[in-house]
Amino acid sequence: MTPMELLLMAVMAALAVSLVVAALRARRLAQASAAAAARAATLERELDARTRRLEESAARALERRNEELASANRELQRTQDQLLQSEKLASIGQLAAGVAHEINNPIGFVQSNVATLDRYVADIFALIAAYEQAETSIADPALRANVEAARKAADLDFVKDDVRALVAQSRDGIARVAKIVSDLKGYSRSASDERWQPADIHAAIDSTLNIVYNEIKYKAEVRKEYGTLPLIECRPAQLSQVFMNLLMNAAQAIRGQGTITIRTRDAGAHVVLEFADTGEGIEPANLARIFEPFFTTKPVGKGTGLGLSVAYGIVSDHGGEIAVDSTRGEGTVFRVFLPVAQPEVSPSAPSTCASANSDGTPGERFPATSRHPMA
Ligand SMILES: Nc1ncnc2c1ncn2[C@@H]1O[C@H](COP(=O)(O)OP(=O)(O)OP(=O)(O)O)[C@@H](O)[C@H]1O
Ligand SMILES: [Mg+2]
Repeated sequence: MTPMELLLMAVMAALAVSLVVAALRARRLAQASAAAAARAATLERELDARTRRLEESAARALERRNEELASANRELQRTQDQLLQSEKLASIGQLAAGVAHEINNPIGFVQSNVATLDRYVADIFALIAAYEQAETSIADPALRANVEAARKAADLDFVKDDVRALVAQSRDGIARVAKIVSDLKGYSRSASDERWQPADIHAAIDSTLNIVYNEIKYKAEVRKEYGTLPLIECRPAQLSQVFMNLLMNAAQAIRGQGTITIRTRDAGAHVVLEFADTGEGIEPANLARIFEPFFTTKPVGKGTGLGLSVAYGIVSDHGGEIAVDSTRGEGTVFRVFLPVAQPEVSPSAPSTCASANSDGTPGERFPATSRHPMA
C-alpha cells in the first residue's frame, strides 16, 4: 500500500468512528428528549390534577363562605324585623298610654255620675210609688183625672222599666270603656307601680285560673303539667294579667270542646311557661299582627284586640319573651320565657322580644337583653 492509500484509509476509519459516535449521540439525545417529553407530560397531568383540586377546594370554600354570609344576612334581617316590631309596639304603647291617660279622668266622673244617677232614679221612683199610693185619696175627681192623664201621657210604667235598663246599660258600657283604659295603661310599661317581689308562678297561674274558670269550664278541660320552678322575681299581679289574657284567648279559640294544657319548666336562668290549646289556630298571615294593639279577629263587642299587646308589654317589662306556635285547625301554643332574677341596674335597653316567631325554643330565643328597674 502506498502511503497515500494508508492515509486515506486512516481518514476513512476516523470518519467512520466519528459517524458511529455521532449516531450514538443522536440516539442518546433522542432517548433523553423522549424521557423529557414523558416527564413533561407527567408534570402537566400533575399540574392539571393539582389545579383541579385547588379549584374544587376554592369552590367549596366559596360555597361555605356564601352560606355563612347568607345565614348572617338572614340573622340580620330577623334582628332588624324584631327591632322594627319592638319599636313599632313601643311607640304604639306610648300613644296608647297617652290616650288612656286623657280618657281616664272623664271616664272616672262619668262612671261616678252614672252611679249617682242610678241612686237618684231609685229615690225618685220610690217617691213616685208613694205618690201613686196617695193618688186614691185625692178627693177632687178633676184633679185625680188630671194626674191619671199625666201618668198615661208620660207612659210612666214603660219609663220606669226603661230608665232602669238604660242606666244599667250605661254602667255596663262605661265599665267596658274603663276596662279598655285600664288595659291600655297596662300596655304602657311605666304605668305599673307594683312592687317587684319573689313569687310562686304556679300559685299565680292557679289563682288566675280560679278567676277565669267560669269562662272556660264549659269549653275546655284544663290540664296542668307543672315542673319544679324556683321563685321568680316579678310583678305577680301584672303576670296574672298575662296568664288571664292567654287563658281567655285559648278558651275563645276552642270550637266546641277542647283542652288547654299549661306546662312549666325550669331552664336555669329562666323559666318557660306554655299555654297550649286545641283551638282553631291562627292564620299565618295574622301571626305577625296579633301583638298589635287593637288587632282582633273577634266580632265587634267580643274582642278589643288588647289582650296580647298588654301581655307583650308586661313580659317585655320583665325582661322576658313571648313567642307563639300555631297550626290552623290544630291549636296554638304561647310560650312565655321569664328570667328568674331581675338585674339591679336600669339602663332601659330595648327588648329583643319577638312577636310572632314560630320557633320559640329557649336556647335560641332567650335570654333577652332588656334590663329593668327594680321598684
Ligand atoms: N290561643 C289563640 N288561638 C287562636 N287565635 C288567637 C289565640 N290568641 C290570640 N289569637 C288571635 O289574636 C288576636 C288578638 O288577641 P288579643 O288577645 O290581643 O285580642 P282579642 O282576644 O281579640 O281581644 P281582647 O283580648 O282585647 O278581648 C285574636 O283576635 C285572635 O285572632
Ligand atoms: Mg284576648
